[in-house]
Amino acid sequence: MAGRLYGVGVGPGDPDLLTLKAIRCVEAADVIAYPVKAPGEKGTALEIVMQRADLSQKETVELIFGMNADDKARKSDYGRAVAALSAILDGGKSVAVITLGDVSLYSTYMRLNADMEARGYKTAVIPGVASFCSGAAEARMPLTIGEEGLAVVSMNGDPEEIRAAVESFDNIVLMKAGGHMGEVVKLLGDAGLKEKATIVSNIGMDGQYVGPVDEERQYGYFTTVIVKKGE
Ligand SMILES: C[S@@+](CC[C@H](N)C(=O)[O-])C[C@H]1O[C@@H](n2cnc3c(N)ncnc32)[C@H](O)[C@@H]1O
Repeated sequence: MAGRLYGVGVGPGDPDLLTLKAIRCVEAADVIAYPVKAPGEKGTALEIVMQRADLSQKETVELIFGMNADDKARKSDYGRAVAALSAILDGGKSVAVITLGDVSLYSTYMRLNADMEARGYKTAVIPGVASFCSGAAEARMPLTIGEEGLAVVSMNGDPEEIRAAVESFDNIVLMKAGGHMGEVVKLLGDAGLKEKATIVSNIGMDGQYVGPVDEERQYGYFTTVIVKKGE
């Protein structure tokens, strides 16, 4: 019988934010698969898990998802991941694919999950703490209060849709903001919201920053902006 595939959210960085269910699943799985941008990388999700689970005797497999803009390259990375997971599951082993934060937010895993289910494999998804929830906790701010709404958008998305979300929602989470800080500053400046923005960067990791927009600062990939118009 084929093994089961698990998608496991491991939280944003602090290993104490791994759930008991995530740790149990990783410890019980035959194989741990983890996403990397290039072969040989350790991968942030794996580094988090290794701090709370003993993986020394565990078979691990890297799933390479290069940050390639080229559609063909992305499809071939994805195809290789499907083939690698299928081969392990067909051998009767279970696989836990670990992903940063929560599995349902901007993670390739959910696409994999749908495809693997369509191929007849049994799956399960274990949620994790989302990076922006952890960032809001560090900033001591509510993401929503009363009847407010919340928009979550990617800074890699359509600029007009991002602008519309910023204009119409009470609270906005701008994800994947690290490489787009110039655009973020312009967007917030145009909307008169620069003072209403909090940067949450490298939450639970080395170099954590929680504070106002500081244009002199360099922000890395793990950067999210929370804009709160109300209290
Ligand atoms: C591909 S998405 C993954 C989101 C993840 N699944 C989650 O639940 O947060 C990557 C983006 O998530 C945000 N992110 C992930 N980890 C973060 C952290 N530790 N601190 C701040 N932002 C983070 C950043 O906006 C980053 O560009």
